[in-house]
Amino acid sequence: MTTQMKSSNTVWHHATVTRDRRAELSKHKSVVLWFTGLSGAGKSTIAHAVEEQLHQKGYHTFVLDGDNVRHGLCGDLGFSDADRMENIRRVGEVAKLFIEAGVIVLTAFISPFRADRDKARQLIQEDFVEIYCDCSLEVCEERDVKGLYRKARAGEIKHFTGISSPYEIPENPELSINTGGKTIEECAAEVLAYLVKRGVYQEK
Ligand code: ADX
Repeated sequence: MTTQMKSSNTVWHHATVTRDRRAELSKHKSVVLWFTGLSGAGKSTIAHAVEEQLHQKGYHTFVLDGDNVRHGLCGDLGFSDADRMENIRRVGEVAKLFIEAGVIVLTAFISPFRADRDKARQLIQEDFVEIYCDCSLEVCEERDVKGLYRKARAGEIKHFTGISSPYEIPENPELSINTGGKTIEECAAEVLAYLVKRGVYQEK
């Protein structure tokens, strides 16, 4: 489904401060690191750990986190398939703006549906880096950091991903990290190594 455009008679204004000029100033390229995986798989934790290290290098970063974004921009959305689709569509659009702003964006959303992630990929194109946080349902449920799996099992939360709503594993992610079996530091190091390999920034 493509978004119906209702804003006619608008004209795109081209900025003189371009993405290239921003990259030259900041000494790094912009990219979207799209973390996906079950609730409790470590998406937010790893995204923040990566951001912390990038920030210490002096780079421009921002984490868009599911739980936070759902307090504001997506506060009107629930967890039906259609609402999740709209959630991911908005996040994709916001991430695209951040890319133009020269930022390394880290998104941490379950984003359970392949089609929705693929739409974000189409929008962001070559700057989209899909990172699968590979952690089994058993481990996520065992961790149950927020106590939500217990509630979902008790039937107190409907459409809970992994329990009563599906999670579609990425088929060709740029990066797949075994977050169930590695430390946060190891996971973050894998992401940073990938960024260097990709030429987002150069190791000093
Ligand atoms: S997504 O499916 O639309 O990508 P998102 O990442 O924004 O989900 O939000 C997931 C977070 O919302 C979870 O980490 C959890 O804290 C909370 N949550 C509340 N209800 C649900 C639910 N039914 N399914 C999954 N997560 C839920």
